[in-house]
Amino acid sequence: MSVIENAIKRLQAARAGAAFARGTAGASGGAARRRELAAAGNAAAAPTRTIVINHDALRIAGLVPPSHQERELARQFRHIKRPLINNALGRGVPRLAHGNLIMVASAVPGEGKTFTSLNLAFSMRLEEDMSVLLVDGDVVNPRVSRILGVENEPGLLEVVRDNVPLGAAIHATDVPGLSFLPAGRPDANPTELLASVRMSEVVAQLGGHDPTRLVLFDSAPLLLTTESHALAHLVGQILLVVRADLTAQQVVLAALETLEEGKPVSLVLNQSMKPPHAEYYYQYSGNAGTPKNASGA
Ligand SMILES: Nc1ncnc2c1ncn2[C@@H]1O[C@H](COP(=O)(O)OP(=O)(O)O)[C@@H](O)[C@H]1O
Ligand SMILES: [Mg+2]
Repeated sequence: MSVIENAIKRLQAARAGAAFARGTAGASGGAARRRELAAAGNAAAAPTRTIVINHDALRIAGLVPPSHQERELARQFRHIKRPLINNALGRGVPRLAHGNLIMVASAVPGEGKTFTSLNLAFSMRLEEDMSVLLVDGDVVNPRVSRILGVENEPGLLEVVRDNVPLGAAIHATDVPGLSFLPAGRPDANPTELLASVRMSEVVAQLGGHDPTRLVLFDSAPLLLTTESHALAHLVGQILLVVRADLTAQQVVLAALETLEEGKPVSLVLNQSMKPPHAEYYYQYSGNAGTPKNASGA
């Protein structure tokens, strides 16, 4: 059983033990909790708490749609997730190596990476027999960690830098099938950390051997940071978010240039004011050279 499955099992076992502090304001710890965790088999490696996802707070932050747009957005995300999942599982297409490791990227800030990561995670976790681990890979501006109230908790950076066990950094959430790994406390050298051998080991552990466990990385903009290049190197596929009517074609091409040859990339056109049509979603392969239409949504 992989590290993640172990960690999630421990979290579930600890939760089943009752008297579990819930909510983003509830600090973990306490003798009763430690006894529960010890009973669950790993007191040292499971000090995380269950994150209660506050959808109203997400809505106020503009990271989930207003209720009257929920259905339409859910429909669009169903279209966006399907080819990514098919790539990960090899359903009707060749299975991508590490295809369950998916990075949500963009050229510049404000294109909708965090919006897309969250809504894609909510959509993907609804799949039968699949689970989603959302990772805040934007270690310089960890917006998801902040909004979920775990900005100052150990996260990806501590796992890579300080060898904190993954099980001690991954949080269960009250949304079934969705867990979260925060970015961790800021570091002076994030690029070196994300480009380290230890980081590649951590990402390999996250991916495991189970393609039904999707690992979704929110990330920093490709053209303004180098740590995102390091992350891009480690994942199996990339969803490049392009803000409609704002991001110049040359900027998108420059972002694609930062990715290694052959890296599977899908493009999603975000915040288009035009009605969805056949061109709003593309898959792109660095090998093929040109974008090709992948969805008739
Ligand atoms: N599809 C969308 N519909 C509505 N608002 C969106 C959409 N995508 C992004 N936004 C808004 O744009 C802002 C920037 O998006 P964000 O996901 O934070 O960008 P990034 O993570 O790429 O910097 C957010 O405040 C969000 O509210
Ligand atoms: Mg962001």
